[in-house]
Amino acid sequence: MMYPDVRLRRLRQSEKMRNLVAETRLHPDEFILPIFFDENLSSVKTTDSMPGVKTFPLSGYDKIASDIQESGVSTALVFGVPKYKDAVGSGAYAKDGVVQKAIEGLKENSDMLVIADLCLCEYTDHGHCGVLSDCGCVKNDETIELYGRTAVSQADAGADIIAPSGMMDGQIAAIRQALDDAGHKRVPIMAYSAKFYSAYYGPFRDVANSAPGKGNRAGYQMPCGNRKEAMREIEFDIAEGADMIMVKPAGPYLDIIRDAANTFDLPLAAYQVSGEYAMIKAAAQNGWIDEERIMMESLLGIKRAGADMIITYFAEEAARML
Ligand code: PBG
Ligand code: ZN
Repeated sequence: MMYPDVRLRRLRQSEKMRNLVAETRLHPDEFILPIFFDENLSSVKTTDSMPGVKTFPLSGYDKIASDIQESGVSTALVFGVPKYKDAVGSGAYAKDGVVQKAIEGLKENSDMLVIADLCLCEYTDHGHCGVLSDCGCVKNDETIELYGRTAVSQADAGADIIAPSGMMDGQIAAIRQALDDAGHKRVPIMAYSAKFYSAYYGPFRDVANSAPGKGNRAGYQMPCGNRKEAMREIEFDIAEGADMIMVKPAGPYLDIIRDAANTFDLPLAAYQVSGEYAMIKAAAQNGWIDEERIMMESLLGIKRAGADMIITYFAEEAARML
């Protein structure tokens, strides 16, 4: 049976009818808001390339959290911007480091769920995600040992979930082992499993001051065209003990999200990254697109592709619209 006996437009004739048959819905519970804390600041800072994204000083946690929660969002992904950097990123695993303080502040002053991004690039003076060898490449096995220490310090500070984003081999196993040895058996790992070597991270590096000085991240982040390799990355992370997996960026990698959703049963996160956000904001500020509709459409597309959770700078704005 088909036209004229079947008419698909029958189900599109009113908003109520369309809502009834909607296949994909968004909910604030599945949004994760990235937030930045900078220990150099005494008041809130903004960044031109990320309109609407604030960087916070290490204070006022209850207000920060209540503003976010008032929108309906209850989960944050926390990043730190440190005062001092060195070759081994020691600020990342310092007991009184910026992210440890921020996590503690949020946990003590709110009931938000706090995810700690775990990487060294914000904390190294060369801006790479691990320690460098003489040739300028990132040493894998030395780096994942530092990731283990960082994970423990973040869990000690009260982080509910640890999210390693450095794309080193064996990092999930190393972190799981370190957490378990330190008595943090209960703390789950959200693995940035398929993180691509993307130009879409540009504005984030303005906010977090974390661009590599020399070289780039192509030696550890994934080649943009590789689908099979993305599946292997995810498979390995699961074998090493990941509790949740992630695809990043989201919009340009919807096929990877769909493949992952079809292949693996773990909760799947997708990260709508800074460049995706900045492009929408910039076009909207020029009056070239309808910001609200594009925001919702971009999020719906990520969800439809198979993501269970979406990390997005739009979290509060989108939650308020739902
Ligand atoms: C740190 C990290 C980055 C992002 C999340 N964690 C930057 C990078 O890999 O250079 C990017 C997030 C975004 O662009 O919104 N490794
Ligand atoms: Zn990094």
